[in-house]
Amino acid sequence: MCGIIGVTGLSDPLAAVLEGLELLEYRGYDSAGIVGVEASGQALWRVRAAEHGGSIDRLRAEADGGPGPLRACLGHTRWATHGAPSEENAHPHLDCSGRVAVVHNGIIENHRELAAELDRSGHKRTSATDTEILAHLVEAEIDAGADLAEAVRRCLLVLRGDFAVALVHAAEPDLIVAARRTSPLVVGTTASAGVVASDVAAALSTTRQLYALEDDQVAEVAPGRLLVRDLEGRRVEPARIDVAWSVERALKGGYPDFMSKEIHEQPRAAADTLLGRVSPGGATEIEELGLDEEELRATRRVLLVGCGSSYHACLVARHALERWAAVPAEAEIASELRYREPVLAEGTLAIAVSQSGETVDSLHAMREARRRGARVLALTNVVDSVMAREADGVLYTRAGPEVGVASTKSHVAQLVMLEAFALHLARARGTLREGEPGRLAGELLGLAASIGRVLEREEDYLSLGRRFSASENFYYLGRRLGLPVAMEGALKLKELAYVRAEAYPAGEMKHGPISLIEPGAVVVVVATRTPLWEKVMANVEEMRARGATVLGVADEGDEETARLLDGVLVVPPTSELVSPVVCVVPLQCFAYAVARARGNDVDRPRNLAKVVTVE
Ligand code: M6R
Repeated sequence: MCGIIGVTGLSDPLAAVLEGLELLEYRGYDSAGIVGVEASGQALWRVRAAEHGGSIDRLRAEADGGPGPLRACLGHTRWATHGAPSEENAHPHLDCSGRVAVVHNGIIENHRELAAELDRSGHKRTSATDTEILAHLVEAEIDAGADLAEAVRRCLLVLRGDFAVALVHAAEPDLIVAARRTSPLVVGTTASAGVVASDVAAALSTTRQLYALEDDQVAEVAPGRLLVRDLEGRRVEPARIDVAWSVERALKGGYPDFMSKEIHEQPRAAADTLLGRVSPGGATEIEELGLDEEELRATRRVLLVGCGSSYHACLVARHALERWAAVPAEAEIASELRYREPVLAEGTLAIAVSQSGETVDSLHAMREARRRGARVLALTNVVDSVMAREADGVLYTRAGPEVGVASTKSHVAQLVMLEAFALHLARARGTLREGEPGRLAGELLGLAASIGRVLEREEDYLSLGRRFSASENFYYLGRRLGLPVAMEGALKLKELAYVRAEAYPAGEMKHGPISLIEPGAVVVVVATRTPLWEKVMANVEEMRARGATVLGVADEGDEETARLLDGVLVVPPTSELVSPVVCVVPLQCFAYAVARARGNDVDRPRNLAKVVTVE
């Protein structure tokens, strides 16, 4: 989703902004732009582009032939919400005088009423965005005598919504002013430079001494100067963040795209996530959890929330929590929880699952759960992300930076971490039989090797995908633990291959959707040997009887299942509760192959953003 990078100072801040934009690309964007204060301090230089996949190259070309020396510079990648993805709606946006520029992530909810007031007082707007409003509001405050930081602070008092913004003003050429509400923003300075960014990765080449702005804080960033104030104008100390990884980890490393690299990193993601947390004898320890054994024992109910693949991980975790820890557990889509007035009984532990730790729906669901009295944990892959900072405790996955828009290794790491937590909770609650903690720990610790064995068969999955790449109607079916796997498989196919793929509980098909099945339909079923295998295979027969081609994920050596299917995605046998971790991998590869055969960009599928920072 939208990304912000601002650099001031340095000999070439424009080059640093271009580099930052490239690091922000993975979030997904449809247009991009840059503004810089000309060294004379009299004017702004701005360039914008809206070319799918090529906007940053265009900016670079313009910059090469472009401006003279610049002082403070801002860059932005936009994912359209208000106003079509076009050059005129691309950020940065300017005020009427062309001397104030703003970049923005998020949504200004009361933009219509603010725009009407601005129109009445004679401001001329040139875009259909909510963002441009802020440039004009700031202009009005500057005309009334405020400097840039004070103008932004005053404007924040009237804005509603979730946002992060960064602004420059030609009259204060080395200064960037940044502010946020909900959407993340980090700031940092050295003696010779200052940086503002929506992503830590984009800021790292300027400095590793970074600070996370809190809600409703306004920062003045200039070389040798970092001043942060709250909405009342009082000085506050920003929170320092600890950056433990480097940008190099986010390069392709010889793979054709990030997605295939990240699929291959899954054994490592699983192993790293369990490291030091689950030991072979069954002992567990989760360092940043923030809940002691007594608090864990007091848990009466677990509520898991997330979006997309993270929600699917919640659906799997529900089973592990109920079976191992004997605690009622529910999974809910984050964007639904917030608006249904949930009743959270005492002793509810809410776990918000989010790779990015930024997804605004999940963040709001987490806040809502806390407001209603739950203890909240964030399960995230991003250290110091907004959700990690706000939660009572954190379950960090250790998948490393995930660049491909489709979740792969982060999803697997979520599954593994949630199951490790279920084991931890079960031990604290004393709900496991003797010897069980050791057995379950062994199963979890064996997962990295099992994924490795799955990946040895990668070519089989890819060739099956290529064989079915022209099909237009897919149905993904599963039961119990197989259902979230089917849902994840279907999501991968939809988002990457742009093909209709409906996921359904296998037993529910005959209650309606079976009327869609006819020759040409492709059914993908999770058919590993669980206690429900016979029932799943009965459902398979119902599909075949109506002319569908049925493919399935099946256990290695299970000839009987292979005979009953038209194509198999073989996986090493695992116990049912941990099986989603291995079963999902062939479905990722299958979707990848269909998408590649159709000529799609697997790292940056159309219309999608890696980080969804709007509701
Ligand atoms: O960063 P999050 O885990 O909160 O993101 C949630 C979803 O947007 C994400 O899982 C999305 O569904 C993936 N692109 C799916 O591959």
